[in-house]
Amino acid sequence: MSFRVLEPSKKPATSQARSINTPQNKQHENMSELEIRKAVKERYAKIALSSDSSCCAGEDCGDVNLATSSVTVPVEASAVNAGCGSPLLLINPREGDVVLDLGSGGGIDIFRASQLVGTSGKAIGVDATPEMIWRARETKSTYGDKYANTEFRLGEIEYLPIESNAVDYVISNCVINLSPDKLAVFRESFRVLKEDGVFAVADVTLQKEIPDAARKDMDSWSACIAGALTDSEYERLLTSAGFQDIKIDHVSDSNIGEYPFSYFSSHIKARKPSANSLRAP
Ligand SMILES: C[S@@+](CC[C@H](N)C(=O)[O-])C[C@H]1O[C@@H](n2cnc3c(N)ncnc32)[C@H](O)[C@@H]1O
Repeated sequence: MSFRVLEPSKKPATSQARSINTPQNKQHENMSELEIRKAVKERYAKIALSSDSSCCAGEDCGDVNLATSSVTVPVEASAVNAGCGSPLLLINPREGDVVLDLGSGGGIDIFRASQLVGTSGKAIGVDATPEMIWRARETKSTYGDKYANTEFRLGEIEYLPIESNAVDYVISNCVINLSPDKLAVFRESFRVLKEDGVFAVADVTLQKEIPDAARKDMDSWSACIAGALTDSEYERLLTSAGFQDIKIDHVSDSNIGEYPFSYFSSHIKARKPSANSLRAP
């Protein structure tokens, strides 16, 4: 499979709402999917260019500083932090591991993961917003070789520009709720993980299904609310993609804020089974 990966070598002038790595037929099939991608990219392009640290889903980013380790975060990445939890707290990456971050934004979790996997490992971020990719690469270049084991690839998480069976951990921080095709995200995560690889993400989940009209509010979708799944739907789709040992924990209290329904900041973990464990006894 070949990927059309667009590489912004200099600061993008404006937000670009085009779809990358998306098959043409799918783009024409579903206009509302295009609208969602456009609204999402516009919002995060603005954040990338303005240094406006704006948590997805409310005031509390749920960001934890990995206090027990010596991991540090570049201030430039903190400035555009837009997560809602700490996926790295769910896993224990070792020297040499490969960590993939879906929707890496300004790179906050990638710069952390980089220090955990060491020089023989790799931390790869994929993001669909050219301005975010530019921002993360700028930060990387500020620190010389310190983050040499990181890479930021422009692409969509429904069509990952990553080889199959190549990564030990798929992480993500407040991104999957933004996708108009979550099953594709889970299938792609499953494809790129090695056997026994771990999917560990922070995301917004809903207490119960919300009305269709609320789903169509693009502002609320791009603010990480209207596209969120309920826990049971999250579990159903992960199972359908092939994942096992699925666990969902709420890390914030139910939050209502300006929305007429409750949602949580959640940590979700699942495992890609090994071929052996799938074989009949
Ligand atoms: C809420 S921000 C989170 C950024 C980062 N994970 C963090 O914790 O700061 C969402 C990010 O996901 C990216 N994104 C949203 N939908 C995407 C998609 N379908 N494919 C790739 N990236 C996407 C956006 O461009 C944005 O950078």
